Amino acid sequence: MLNANESPWAPYPGGEGLNRYPQPQPAALTQRLAQIYAVDEEQLLVGRGSDEAIDLLVRGFCRAERDAVLISPPTFGMYRVSAQLQGARLIEVPLRSDQDYAIDADEIISRAQAEPVKLVFVCSPNNPTGQLADRADVLRIADALRDRALVVVDEAYVEYAQSASYSEALAGRDNLLVLRTLSKAYGLAAARIGCLLGERSIITFLRGLMAPYPLPQPSVSAALQALDPALDAPRAAQIAATIEQRERLRTALQSHPLVQRIWPSDANFLCVRWRDGAAVARALADRGIIVRDLSRYPGLENCLRLSTGSSEENQALLDALTAIASALAAPVAAEYHA
Ligand SMILES: Cc1ncc(COP(=O)(O)O)c(C=O)c1O
Repeated sequence: MLNANESPWAPYPGGEGLNRYPQPQPAALTQRLAQIYAVDEEQLLVGRGSDEAIDLLVRGFCRAERDAVLISPPTFGMYRVSAQLQGARLIEVPLRSDQDYAIDADEIISRAQAEPVKLVFVCSPNNPTGQLADRADVLRIADALRDRALVVVDEAYVEYAQSASYSEALAGRDNLLVLRTLSKAYGLAAARIGCLLGERSIITFLRGLMAPYPLPQPSVSAALQALDPALDAPRAAQIAATIEQRERLRTALQSHPLVQRIWPSDANFLCVRWRDGAAVARALADRGIIVRDLSRYPGLENCLRLSTGSSEENQALLDALTAIASALAAPVAAEYHA
């Protein structure tokens, strides 16, 4: 191995192999992921998180100042960030807040047909609102935009929805792509491994845009360990436990005095509206519990996104919220009595 100017020595005892550059798309990992996601290996790109795949799609298909990315806010922020970095135009067709944040398929199709849209991102289940997009709507969008735009379904949370992946719908739809990640249900956020699934020539083209040797060997090793079939059953149990815990949180919060609304969720988090979201977030932070304040999203004023943790963490959250309800109610009561 005298072709890559590597050191001939391992960096530390036990670090054998780390002195060599990794394979750009390690075969053992692509084989296993292709098996899990039920696609051919040539239909799969492995990147540094699905974040990298989003960035590659925008860089690969959108010319700065000319082409557009269509998103349905409130949704995952990286679509916007990648579009802005590339100088692509951003077209927004908001989710329908009157219909539990359903996608507006007719409007998406007509805007994408009228403007130079190259990519349509559909997040399902959607972050941060939590619901699956209607399958017939998504496929209708993909079919209507067949010769016009790529439709990318981001399934970062699909394991918690326990619904079929759109990878089943790829056959015969060259413009449909699917994003998957090991960062959520597979518990590997630190390894940064995500995938894009789709038509072979698109995958080959995007692989060509990646940095050399993009996947660090320690991440690849961690992913291969996590994807050992022996862990399938315990992982399924973890996913089932997360869903059960999510529903437990949802039920408990429905009667909480500071909660105004909770949306149904197909993901591992809940989107919850409070009388004063910022005050609740601050009070939780004071107690060492960090949640995501969604107030900056138009339409999600006073909303917080609560991730489902372990049963102990969720109990700590519920206990803290009970204490906060009394603390926040106290000054009002005192004023009233005065
Ligand atoms: C909807 C959605 N897509 C993609 C990602 C990025 O995931 P990854 O860790 O694979 O880059 C996230 C992360 O929170 C997400 O919520």
